Amino acid sequence: MATTTAKLLDTPFRKEVFDGLSAYPKYLSSKYFYDKKGDRLFQDIMAMPEYYLTGCEFQILSSHTGTIGELFRDRENGLDLIELGAGDGKKTKVLLKYMAENNFNFVYKPIDISENAVEMLSENLANEMPALTVDAEVGEYFEVLERLKGFNKRKKVIMVLGSNIGNLKHPKAIEFLTKLKDAMLPDDLLFMGFDQKKNPQTILDAYNDEAGITAAFNKNVLTRINRELDGNFEVEKFKHWEMYNPETGTAKSFLVATEAMQVTIEKLGLTVNFEQWETIHTEISQKYDDKIVHWLAEQSGLEIETSFTDEMDYYKNYAFRKV
Ligand code: AVI
Repeated sequence: MATTTAKLLDTPFRKEVFDGLSAYPKYLSSKYFYDKKGDRLFQDIMAMPEYYLTGCEFQILSSHTGTIGELFRDRENGLDLIELGAGDGKKTKVLLKYMAENNFNFVYKPIDISENAVEMLSENLANEMPALTVDAEVGEYFEVLERLKGFNKRKKVIMVLGSNIGNLKHPKAIEFLTKLKDAMLPDDLLFMGFDQKKNPQTILDAYNDEAGITAAFNKNVLTRINRELDGNFEVEKFKHWEMYNPETGTAKSFLVATEAMQVTIEKLGLTVNFEQWETIHTEISQKYDDKIVHWLAEQSGLEIETSFTDEMDYYKNYAFRKV
């Protein structure tokens, strides 16, 4: 491995790629899947029949719109509806429409790590719901949490849909939930989606589709390193591998080197050696049950007020309050 200087590692992306590819075993964070191409691939994933999560959550929000909407109901001085990881907002629109039609006084504040996703959503809402007040922001979850504390003049509802929390290991999830709790006042609500444990095959299929869309999504992190950091990964020499542990509820994605190779990443001054079948761990997608969600809430100073599930009990949205 070549040496490098601190100057080469001056962004979180550079530093994390350097650390992850210098470690043993190697790892990269799934948050770097999401550039323009990654956003498009994730849209394709959400439209795949195997990726049941989106359809289930859409069904929950569509069949319980009134109950969920009234849970969110604004107070005299209105409401801030803050969505972390808003993506394309397709599911959220069901609630936004209900709130708009039922005289809620509210501002919708979508926040996403992807600039591209935020722009598209803002444009789309301006066309479809021109009367809606939208105040969008680009940012990483942990970075925007501090700013959430500033929203303390009106009731606020913080939404995290899509089982996005599942991309965090439990200690990080607790840190995240605790920070959300710290930003909440007693009247505020946290509304969050958690994909549930189920037939392990159903979960494996969701992350290992035959068309190879998830594989392309996973490999996009290498393409991105090639483009942004002058890397020379031969992406086709890596195999997408998914495993699911039904005991812990953890689905893990890997990229596996199908042959020994050497990769250089110019902008990091880094040379990385791969042995044949060596892995890069890229993503976890945690699955939950009520017991785990109760435990996470308890550890974070939150309590579950109520929950909603789909017809197949594949997925749940929980409403939490600060204890
Ligand atoms: C965004 N996140 C919750 C998705 C998931 O299910 O872990 C990302 C994803 N990875 C592969 N397919 C979808």
